[in-house]
Order: sequence, then C-alpha cells, then structure tokens
Amino acid sequence: MTERLRIKDAVIKYGDNPAVNGVSLTAGAGEMIFITGANGSGKSTLTKGIAGLLPLSSGTLVRTPRMSYVPQYEEADRDFPARAGEIVLTGTQRPGKLFHTRNDRNQAESAMNALGIYDLADREIRTLSGGQLRRVFLARAICGKPELLLLDEPCAGLDAHSHEVLFSILRGMMSEGCAVVMVTHDISDIDGIPEGRVIRISGGRIAGYE
Ligand SMILES: Nc1ncnc2c1ncn2[C@@H]1O[C@H](COP(=O)(O)OP(=O)(O)OP(=O)(O)O)[C@@H](O)[C@H]1O
Ligand SMILES: [Mg+2]
Repeated sequence: MTERLRIKDAVIKYGDNPAVNGVSLTAGAGEMIFITGANGSGKSTLTKGIAGLLPLSSGTLVRTPRMSYVPQYEEADRDFPARAGEIVLTGTQRPGKLFHTRNDRNQAESAMNALGIYDLADREIRTLSGGQLRRVFLARAICGKPELLLLDEPCAGLDAHSHEVLFSILRGMMSEGCAVVMVTHDISDIDGIPEGRVIRISGGRIAGYE
C-alpha cells in the first residue's frame, strides 16, 4: 500500500511543554484513521504538526505534499472580504500554478454541489452560519483532490444530512486512494466507517488502538 503519511516519535511543544510526546503513526492510501481522546490530550496539536503548521521538536514526518487540512475552529478571519465560491476555489491552488483552469472551477463547483452549498457561492463568508462556513471549508479541502485529508472535528456543527453527505464523499475519496485522518469525539463517526483504525491519545501519547 502506498504510504501517504509516516510520523515517527513526534514531539511538539508549546514553549517547554510537550503537547505531543513521542507519537508514531502511518496512514496508507485509502485508509481512514480516527484520532480520539479527551479535551486537551493533544489531538489538534498532532494534526497541526502533520499539516506543517507547528514544527516537530524531535521526530520525523514524511507525507505527501498533496494534503488538505480543515482546522477544528475556523481560524479564518470572518471579516475577510471573500465570497464562499472564491474560498472553495483556493483549494485547487498548487505551488507554481498561476491561474485557475476550467477544470479547477468544475471541481470547486462539484464540491459545492456535493456539500449543498452551491447556492451560497456568491455570499460573503461573514454572512454564513457556522455550519455553512464549515461546509465551505470542507468543500475547499476536497476539491483539490488531496492524497491526504486531515480533518479536526469536521462534524461539529453539521446537521445529520450534511454528516451523511460528508461521509459518502470521504468514502469516494478513499476509494480513489486518499488517506483520511479525522479527529473526532463522536462514536457515530467511527461507526460510519467501521474499517477505520482508531487511535486514542492521552496526555500527548498514544494510549491505545481500539
Ligand atoms: N497555542 C497554544 N499554546 C500553549 N498551549 C497550547 C496551545 N494550544 C494548545 N495548547 C495546550 O496543549 C495541550 C493539547 O491541546 P490540543 O488543542 O492539541 O488538545 P485537543 O486534544 O485537540 O483538545 P480538544 O478535544 O479540546 O480539541 C493542552 O494542554 C492545551 O492547553
Ligand atoms: Mg482539538
């Protein structure tokens, strides 16, 4: 199986405090890894480390550059004057690519359609509800056809229908070789993809595989 992610003995610190302390995990093409654990156990810190937003103090990280990441809380400036459709389209950007192609626009439109936000494309993001904005960021993440998708509590704020739609999109992406790493507290997420692996984090360390 082609590996999309390999992190080994990762330590990630805030100041002198290690929030992630010696975590190793791999994710292969088409695999789903659920990361679970109590509040403050280090799940978001780990995903930020994998995304490249926080440096590893020690350990190694090897992953595909074709990665999309959706943070736990929208860290975007809500007052940023952008329309939903423009935000989604940025998901197709690649280093060295100057312009959006017609294909990029088609992919952005189909992601918006899939997540039921096509009608919101021209809306300023500051006018969207929390769940609508979350779907914009999810559409942005999926439309670039990533090989690794990192989702930090993606279902928080999603209604039951959007949850179902998201899981069917994830299954489709996994069947095309995308590895998905999802932080979740919700057992129904884990039940939704029973073949997924579950890793429980406690105090910045892997406490178990369920
Ligand atoms: N920016 C930061 N500066 C300092 N400490 C931080 C920072 N972000 C998180 N921490 C600390 O690091 C630890 C891990 O936090 P993290 O956000 O990774 O937890 P989590 O497992 O995602 O929790 P939750 O389930 O609440 O989202 C916690 O003790 C937290 O207080
Ligand atoms: Mg978190």
